[in-house]
Amino acid sequence: MLNGKKKILVTGSNGQLGNCLRKIADDFSVNYIFEFTDSASLDITDASQVEEHFRDLKPDYCINAAAYTAVDTAETDAERAFSINRDGVANLAEACKTFKTTLIHVSTDYVFDGDTNISYDEDNFTNPMGVYGLSKRQGEDAALEANPKTVILRTSWLYSEFNKNFVKTMLNLFKSKDELNIVADQFGQPTNANDLAEAIMVIIENDHKTYGIFHFSNYPETTWFDFAAKIAELSGSKVKLNPVTSDQFPTAAKRPMRSTMSLDKIERMYHIQPKYWENSLEDSIKTIIQHHD
Ligand SMILES: NC(=O)c1ccc[n+]([C@@H]2O[C@H](COP(=O)([O-])OP(=O)(O)OC[C@H]3O[C@@H](n4cnc5c(N)ncnc54)[C@H](OP(=O)(O)O)[C@@H]3O)[C@@H](O)[C@H]2O)c1
Repeated sequence: MLNGKKKILVTGSNGQLGNCLRKIADDFSVNYIFEFTDSASLDITDASQVEEHFRDLKPDYCINAAAYTAVDTAETDAERAFSINRDGVANLAEACKTFKTTLIHVSTDYVFDGDTNISYDEDNFTNPMGVYGLSKRQGEDAALEANPKTVILRTSWLYSEFNKNFVKTMLNLFKSKDELNIVADQFGQPTNANDLAEAIMVIIENDHKTYGIFHFSNYPETTWFDFAAKIAELSGSKVKLNPVTSDQFPTAAKRPMRSTMSLDKIERMYHIQPKYWENSLEDSIKTIIQHHD
């Protein structure tokens, strides 16, 4: 604590979530001091660099926005995916334990196999379909084993005005294509990374000392096809979208068919009311259009 202010270390802050946290940091400057680091200034896979950083800063909270997020590339780059998503997370959790820091870590709906008709609860059986999901799942365990004082937020289908994501990919394709095939048999919940950043700050501000895994996303579930159709509608695109099956659109990594997560726990424990995904997309589409290349 400095002048009564709590210190928040953010890792991987050049990513989507990190940038969304940067955007709102000033709103919390009365009570918090943020230190934003990126892969150049703090490589989470380097245990001694992590330890040194924590020793200097002694943060009250660490938000881990660093991750290996290339789902398909991970299939042939497993060593790096595990190094960042499992071992890097373990390094942070160890440092958090040593310096009594609360770790807020982010995981994914891809820890589930999607072979279900119900919405997943936090304690449901996990069975990742690919390297990315497995590396994230092992990162969850590594974090909780090293430091039970960890909050893990599993989120899904993340987008924002920053970095690469489905919304920006669609907006780019709409400019050059008249027609697009979009997978219509995979279900999940799009999530605005700006909403995730706000939810993280609600958790920090209402620190109930309640740790463990929580699901956070926008809702209700939709398909990639309906998500793309809404992006087209909101951006005024006349592109023709054709629904296709996952089999017609093969990718290096298999994805869950239905990774819809129940949001009851975070609503109950933190009174966080997730937004409708369509409303959240509508609220931010203009900003995303301004930022997309
Ligand atoms: N994107 C999605 O659709 C999605 C869905 C579900 C869950 N999630 C989870 O949500 C979280 C945030 O995702 P995001 O979309 O914001 O990720 P992102 O945009 O890909 O950003 C990840 C950031 O991590 C940094 N990073 C990579 N290796 C690092 C290292 N060794 N040390 C420090 N920083 C490192 C990257 O920096 P460099 O660019 O310099 O490598 C990048 O800026 C992640 O945990 C992700 O797994 C994402």
